[in-house]
Amino acid sequence: MVDLVEKIDEDEISILDPKAGTGVLVASIINKILLSNSIPKKIILDCYEIDSNLIPYLTKVVATCKPEVNKKGIGFEFNISKSDFIIENFKVLSTNETLFPENGLKFYDIIISNSPYYKINKSKYLAISKNLIDDHPNIYTLFMAVSSKLLNNNGQLIFITPRSFCSEVYCRLFRAIRKSF
Ligand SMILES: C[S@@+](CC[C@H](N)C(=O)[O-])C[C@H]1O[C@@H](n2cnc3c(N)ncnc32)[C@H](O)[C@@H]1O
Repeated sequence: MVDLVEKIDEDEISILDPKAGTGVLVASIINKILLSNSIPKKIILDCYEIDSNLIPYLTKVVATCKPEVNKKGIGFEFNISKSDFIIENFKVLSTNETLFPENGLKFYDIIISNSPYYKINKSKYLAISKNLIDDHPNIYTLFMAVSSKLLNNNGQLIFITPRSFCSEVYCRLFRAIRKSF
């Protein structure tokens, strides 16, 4: 997945992992940036993780990256949100971010994610997604829909998912949200 990352020749690179686990993906991206020829001035990293057991490991991994990044003269700003990425951000699905740039949204150059997979018809997400996504979608489509709305122009969305979102009937509304898929 990290081999797919291309956008590392910017002065400032913003990265999001919406379900970061122990931070293996973000640490790998940072490693790739540090080994590249084009060193940015600043890296901004945002991670979400709901499993409180993983937060200490994630915190340690990201904190270990910081001196390595700083050693190269690169600024490093990071935030670990111990909260549910969907609940925190689902409103972006009904927001026109270009019309309301002042609404506090943050946008990212690279969004990378290894999703959980389960049907969301009986979960807490059904109420917030029912007008936006068809019945019985898989949770990964919700992560993709919300994340794709937080992407900068020319940003990269790198998700490991099944391909069902390209063709399944239950992903019809999801495809309409992001016509580019
Ligand atoms: C498949 S793991 C991937 C972890 C890591 N990115 C990796 O590749 O090792 C998915 C992670 O997402 C977290 N997660 C699941 N739902 C979430 C949510 N709504 N918001 C934030 N994190 C979530 C889980 O606790 C789990 O650690």
